[in-house]
Amino acid sequence: MAGIARSNKTFCEFFAGIGLVREGLAGSGWSCAYANDVDPKKQQLYEGRFGAEGHFHLGDVWNTPEVLARITGRPFLATASFPCVDLSLAGHGRGFEGSHSSTFFGFVQLLEALADRRPRVVLLENVSGFVTSSGGKDFEAAARSLADLGYWLDAFMLDAGWFLPQSRPRVFVVGVRDGLDRPLAARRSPSDWIADDWTRRIEAADRRVRPPKLVDRMKAIDLATGWTAFDVPVPRRKPPHVAELIDLGDDPSWWDAAAVTKHHDMMSDRHRERVDAMVESGETFVGTIYRRKRAGATRAEVRFDGVAGCLRTPRGGSGKQIVVAVDRGVLRMRWMSAREYARLQGAPTFPLAANTIQNLFGFGDAVCVPVIQWIDEHVLSPVFAGAHEDGDAESPRAERGRQPDARTAPQDHAGGEGQEHVA
Ligand SMILES: C[S@@+](CC[C@H](N)C(=O)[O-])C[C@H]1O[C@@H](n2cnc3c(N)ncnc32)[C@H](O)[C@@H]1O
Repeated sequence: MAGIARSNKTFCEFFAGIGLVREGLAGSGWSCAYANDVDPKKQQLYEGRFGAEGHFHLGDVWNTPEVLARITGRPFLATASFPCVDLSLAGHGRGFEGSHSSTFFGFVQLLEALADRRPRVVLLENVSGFVTSSGGKDFEAAARSLADLGYWLDAFMLDAGWFLPQSRPRVFVVGVRDGLDRPLAARRSPSDWIADDWTRRIEAADRRVRPPKLVDRMKAIDLATGWTAFDVPVPRRKPPHVAELIDLGDDPSWWDAAAVTKHHDMMSDRHRERVDAMVESGETFVGTIYRRKRAGATRAEVRFDGVAGCLRTPRGGSGKQIVVAVDRGVLRMRWMSAREYARLQGAPTFPLAANTIQNLFGFGDAVCVPVIQWIDEHVLSPVFAGAHEDGDAESPRAERGRQPDARTAPQDHAGGEGQEHVA
């Protein structure tokens, strides 16, 4: 048997939000078997894009019996971009003690309950603070809970800014069940991490994908299964300038002079001087602004590097991003539109809701589509293609993979043009 039937290329999307994980997987034959989220406003956006054919389950991930009853068959993949609020700077260091991010364990509880229908592959996504929150204990707890369910793990960072002009670094954890191909798997106690292929490969990788703080964390955690290392390249192509995604027409949403002056006055001297020089010289410029509290005062901080700041949910005064443009000596500003949020997340034609704030919440929380496509191309679809129909434990590959020091050859991730292999 060469592989699992194409019809089994199914996934369940937990913490589905507006569905940008699904958007990223759609192009390579993945079919969504089940999606779950607790937010009806996200559901509305999700179903506006993917239809209300009945697989979106509006319900709490902790409600295992209800979730279980809606998942038919054995999905190959389960994705979980669980809430980041307790793991990010805004979360006051609550980590998994917080009620939001700890919903991850509702996902784990569900995986456990799925038993022999447990997906062969899992994909987690979260902010980079996931690696360091609670002194690294949260990441360790998450890794251990997946390893205890039989998953071999890899973790790496990708930034949306490598694909589109939005700075959005995120950490991804991939888990593959015993029996699936695992390039360069390692199962050692931390004291044995010396000069084996896994360690060499991880340490030689591009530090943008495998930053030392992440690699050190992985090396410090001795899993019941072990760690593996997928070949995750950094794209070589240059992302577009943010100006290419911004509408510069004369629409009425540009602010009046008073609002522009107010934000001009809120800039630091350095930023204001740079902007004034461009106005004076007639130079053309497009950038973005976030308002931030600095030493008790609100500052309008301009990005001059052609990259938008990380999209966020529009909570409080600092959540919404501002567009700033200089054209033929005129300084203009306005709120970034929902359509521009969608473009910055790689979903340029996504059907928007009538309510702007609903759209901004949806896109501010979402994953960036080309990042998911990249993981799919280099990890998920190759794992699917190498999988055998006959289960986790029985295939010849599974037998080979179960040896503690098995070294399966790296899969052929020959990436073609426009990328740089790093891992
Ligand atoms: C980071 S967002 C995921 C966004 C999604 N990946 C996307 O592209 O739109 C986290 C999601 O978890 C959902 N959520 C929070 N608590 C939940 C719970 N107890 N059960 C199910 N979903 C929950 C939130 O409503 C939110 O949409």
